[in-house]
Amino acid sequence: MQEFSGQVAVVTGAASGIGLAIAHKLLAEGANVALLDFNTEGLTGEFGQGADNVLPIGIDITDENRVSEVMQQVVAHFGRIDILVNCVGITGATNIKSHEVSSENLQKVFMVNFMSSFFTAKAVLPIMLAQHYGRILHIASIAGKEGNAGMLAYSASKAAVIGMTKVQGKEYAETGITVNALAPAVIRTPLVDAMPEAQVTYMTDKIPMKRCGTLDEAANLAAYIVSPKNSFTTGFTFDLSGGRATY
Ligand SMILES: NC(=O)c1ccc[n+]([C@@H]2O[C@H](COP(=O)([O-])OP(=O)(O)OC[C@H]3O[C@@H](n4cnc5c(N)ncnc54)[C@H](O)[C@@H]3O)[C@@H](O)[C@H]2O)c1
Repeated sequence: MQEFSGQVAVVTGAASGIGLAIAHKLLAEGANVALLDFNTEGLTGEFGQGADNVLPIGIDITDENRVSEVMQQVVAHFGRIDILVNCVGITGATNIKSHEVSSENLQKVFMVNFMSSFFTAKAVLPIMLAQHYGRILHIASIAGKEGNAGMLAYSASKAAVIGMTKVQGKEYAETGITVNALAPAVIRTPLVDAMPEAQVTYMTDKIPMKRCGTLDEAANLAAYIVSPKNSFTTGFTFDLSGGRATY
């Protein structure tokens, strides 16, 4: 019997990086997985047109109505939703001071990083409440705990995700649903590759292990957080930072 046999997971941002690694991990451990991303070519390239245990769905996750429609599509297809992992995220403009940040860019980053996680959680919570079971994992960032200079929009949007996790953890604590976040430092993914080298060095220099985390390390911890075993921790932001955050 595999850890996630019979369970259904929704992973956003599943075409790349951390979301892709988590989707593969959950599939390997027996889950049926709905893969949400606006990069449909990436989804098809990774998962083909879809075996029985995968449901690739093209979606702009910032479209609230479409999010709610897609969650109903997942339930119609797989029968339930046990797990939601929110991995969609963008950095927005980086390496700039707060007085140089445009309101448009800040709003876009909040829409993608914070509002989309609110939309997906809002859509799956009624489904999980009816099942008396659920695991929600929001991927935040150490930037949300500490604030990375040069990354106002990103840091503030991830702090908002951490705040939402605390609220939701408490609100659903007696329902069989846990809501947690994960705050990675730098994990080597395309998102990091797209950042200016100076910004990446600024971040790895602060990591006592002096390296990026790996996708396997991220997927292993995420899989534990959304497993049935993780039943007495909610509203918590798990650390994945090579010793940078010891709180
Ligand atoms: N990589 C890191 O070092 C690191 C560190 C801390 C936190 N994080 C967080 O982890 C998450 C995943 O990061 P990653 O490095 O794997 O990123 P990534 O860029 O590799 O993957 C993000 C995915 O989200 C998709 N996406 C972006 N906007 C979308 C939208 N509006 N609708 C639908 N899909 C959309 C992209 O197509 C992509 O497949 C993000 O929330 C990021 O902030 C990453």
